[in-house]
Amino acid sequence: MKRAIYPGSFDPITFGHMDIIERSSKMFDEIIVAVLNNSQKNSLFSVDERVTIIKDLTKNYANVKVMSFEGLLVDFADQVDANIIIRGLRAVTDFEYEIQIAQTNHVENPKLDTVFLTTSLNYAYLSSSVVREFASYGGDISKFVPEEIIPLIVEKYKK
Ligand code: PNS
Repeated sequence: MKRAIYPGSFDPITFGHMDIIERSSKMFDEIIVAVLNNSQKNSLFSVDERVTIIKDLTKNYANVKVMSFEGLLVDFADQVDANIIIRGLRAVTDFEYEIQIAQTNHVENPKLDTVFLTTSLNYAYLSSSVVREFASYGGDISKFVPEEIIPLIVEKYKK
């Protein structure tokens, strides 16, 4: 059983994340989308809201589960008995940060490997922070996120 974790903040989830979920769900037996519960970070959506949103958006993928986690990713991987981490790489600028985390996690748990998927060209520019920035000024985010979640994002910035 090849169980892989796709960790992230997903605040909010974007088409780039959805693309990685879809592609990785075809590569592994089970994908656990792991939403980081980081109390120090000022997030747009609560962790429970993010889990609910992602569960809804991935309901048609039979082998995709959504969970939240706190603390170290290596510990969460241990808890759910997964030994693969998936991360998307958009550009060379992501690489330095990502390789450091991947290597650190591998040193902490040598059974844990990180698999990088290159982000589809259509979404190479996209990030959750770009979505938040556009949304905060009332910009059009329909090319960035699934349409179901646009009203939820708009609502957050009304408050
Ligand atoms: O979507 P993000 O914010 O780029 O995701 C980053 C994430 C959640 C993968 C990373 O911050 C993480 O794994 N955090 C959990 C804490 C941890 O294990 N840190 C060790 C990194 S050396």
